[in-house]
Amino acid sequence: MGKVLLSFDTGGDFLAVGIARYTGEPLSAHPFDILSSESFPAPRRANIMLLSKIDEALAQLDLDRGDIAAVVVGRGPGSFTGVRIGVATAKGIARGLGVPLYGVSTVDAIARRIAASGYEGWAFIAADAMRKEIYPALVRIDAGAVSRARKDYVGKPEDVLIDVIDEFRSSGADGTLLVAGNGLLKHRDSIVSSLSEAGIAYELAEESLWPVDGAGLIAAYVDAANGGSPEPFVDTGRPGDVLPIYTRMADAEETERAKKIAAGDSVPAYEKASDRSGVGILVAPDADDAPDAPVADQALESAPAVILRSLVPSDIEAMVAIEEALEHPEWTRGLIHAEFELINRIWIGAFLQGELVGFAGFADLAGDVHVLDVVTAPRARRTGVARKLMLTGMQRALEWRTNKITLEVRVSNAPAVKLYESLGFVQAGVRPSYYSDNREDALIMWGEMVSDEIAQAWWSSVSAQERAEDGARILALESSCDETAAAVVEGNTVVSNVIASQIDFHARFGGVVPEIASRKHIEAVTGVVDEALGLSGTPAFSMPLSALDALAVTDCPGLVGALVVGLAFMKGLGFGCAKPLFGINHLEGHIYANILAHPEIETPFVALLVSGGHTSLIHSPEPGFYRTLGETLDDATGEAFDKVAKALGLPYPGGPIISALAETGDPCAIAFPRAMMRSGDYSFSLSGLKTAVITYIHKAQEAGEELDHNDIAASFQQAVIDVQVAKSVRAVQETGAKWFLLAGGVAANKALREGLTRAMERLDVNVSVPPFEYCTDNAAMIARVAAARVAHDAPLDFTADACAHAPLDFPKI
Ligand code: KG4
Ligand code: ZN
Repeated sequence: MGKVLLSFDTGGDFLAVGIARYTGEPLSAHPFDILSSESFPAPRRANIMLLSKIDEALAQLDLDRGDIAAVVVGRGPGSFTGVRIGVATAKGIARGLGVPLYGVSTVDAIARRIAASGYEGWAFIAADAMRKEIYPALVRIDAGAVSRARKDYVGKPEDVLIDVIDEFRSSGADGTLLVAGNGLLKHRDSIVSSLSEAGIAYELAEESLWPVDGAGLIAAYVDAANGGSPEPFVDTGRPGDVLPIYTRMADAEETERAKKIAAGDSVPAYEKASDRSGVGILVAPDADDAPDAPVADQALESAPAVILRSLVPSDIEAMVAIEEALEHPEWTRGLIHAEFELINRIWIGAFLQGELVGFAGFADLAGDVHVLDVVTAPRARRTGVARKLMLTGMQRALEWRTNKITLEVRVSNAPAVKLYESLGFVQAGVRPSYYSDNREDALIMWGEMVSDEIAQAWWSSVSAQERAEDGARILALESSCDETAAAVVEGNTVVSNVIASQIDFHARFGGVVPEIASRKHIEAVTGVVDEALGLSGTPAFSMPLSALDALAVTDCPGLVGALVVGLAFMKGLGFGCAKPLFGINHLEGHIYANILAHPEIETPFVALLVSGGHTSLIHSPEPGFYRTLGETLDDATGEAFDKVAKALGLPYPGGPIISALAETGDPCAIAFPRAMMRSGDYSFSLSGLKTAVITYIHKAQEAGEELDHNDIAASFQQAVIDVQVAKSVRAVQETGAKWFLLAGGVAANKALREGLTRAMERLDVNVSVPPFEYCTDNAAMIARVAAARVAHDAPLDFTADACAHAPLDFPKI
């Protein structure tokens, strides 16, 4: 049992770390005992220094990580990336250790530091907010108690001081105002002159009191837990509930809002980032749920992701439609309606491309979980949807704390019986003539709701040695762009693959907005990881971290602010659960998406990597060795698709829409240029083609001609394909590769897949195209690389950082 409270803050140029004695009781109940408290300059180095600093602080007290019983983190306000590093690391540590996490305002913690110095009276804190702004706070320190009226906000010093001075006067304050905060470093003159012009007596605090420290964070936690902070305090202790304090939306959203206001449109009042993400959880079909079709067909026709969520009354009509189409409908509209009035019910739906394709209902009846209904629409049969609905429902029903789960099933429904048996259900009896429509007998089955202890035992029952050499069990996280994804693999077997897509949040800006991406990652990260661990059980549920062999995270290339959230979380998780963490190159992940589908792939191979950010031909002579033959000189392929779509007035991401339009268009209708087709090297250029298409569209629009979207899409797509096929063919011939791999989001393009497959078959070269769900960004591919690495490579250490650019051209094994 742990015995200390750990605190830290990384939101400013200072890194703060503190440790206090912790009995598990509310600290407010008795004076708390700070064992160590630090604050030292570490500009932009928090990600590198934080974890070793924590270990050092623990070691100095003769403690280790297992002694940590709770974590308190500064939620800002501060530098956005800096705050996210602290919060993401804290989530990871708390999740890894299985201890509660609490968040406090960094400004409250600074106020507490000033109070701890013995000061009494009024203080004004001006924390640096960059971009010529400050986070201001007027606080009252009275007999050791700290209070302030306003929540955290941001503004230019000269503007906010008008408010602050007003607040100071209207509260009848007198005496000298103590001024502190690192905003003074840049804005001392303007702050001081505003105060003196207003005739307010002030005094500058000692510079050592300006930044936050570890003890201040812990004291601020005690205050907040007692309702003493204007910032909302989340007392659940759940790592997923703690989020950064932002005083603003992302720039792109602020600009949009300003435009709307200027245009006289109504805009909702600005609310701070809510503590609940609106990110939908996407669950991709398991690899082993895929139908037994030939591999090539499977790759071309693999299913899109299924989204699971709780059903709400507005889903009733869709539920009725599925039920009514069944051979033996049992649930009428009225009955379904009544379900939503009841407590102790769980109804979960599975959605494919927004359409309800299956659902399941669970009831807590007399201390047993009873399965009310599990149905799937014909288009979702044999995709594993029923199994996911069962597992998800059972996992949610764990909160009812019952041991037994029961159900009835028609004796003739062999596939359902088989599914339940695979989930550990046994046949317990028969109810004769149970079903009213055909007097058919019902088979009564029952199973066990699995406790954490049993889950642990189940997951640990297969030792690492028993799994194949690269059968390592890996949990991976991917956050390099606009998907927060987590997955568990065992070697080449995908156990779970969860993707929280942010596309909806970026779509209206016509592309990925980095600041929004980073914000969404930190909202989704804990839930996505929990989902990946939770869904992976057969028949048990949450996989304990102890059952993993290693962790993996994408650490390059990508959006740094996005990568850093995933990396900080996983470093914290590894720190907490003492599992090695492997840093994986995103591009190698895309290549390994192919190995998931075709474990028989061998070197030498050539891979064409085409995504929203990349267009490269890569030669791999031996496992783990890569040589980039050529890349795009300008736009990436996915980017070109997206921009052409935009010019046609289509939403982001345009790639899938263009490829759908192209299916019924004439690829020879318009002669667009095939840039660098005969350049004799492996470089690509897509901006000329993109411009040609956009110019064509604009000219036609000016001339008032009707645009044929299908022909434009098909002709553009064909121009891309012709060049990519020609260069791929040459690369394969020149390197003598035996395999050709298509990788990246654009690999979802059917015409490109077919064009390349035909060309390679003529050369007698094996072709691999990943199933659709492994083409776009996902974590299963990242975990798969790590599974190949654990035996050979060194894990990351705590100083690891993310990087935006990283070629694959160095040996990894
Ligand atoms: O690999 P990915 O998910 O993200 C990056 O790492 O960039 O790739 C996303 C890109 C987007 O530009 C999207 O428009 C494109 O892949 N894409 C497609 C298709 N599906 C996705 N492009 C052409 N045809 C498609 N069917
Ligand atoms: Zn990607």
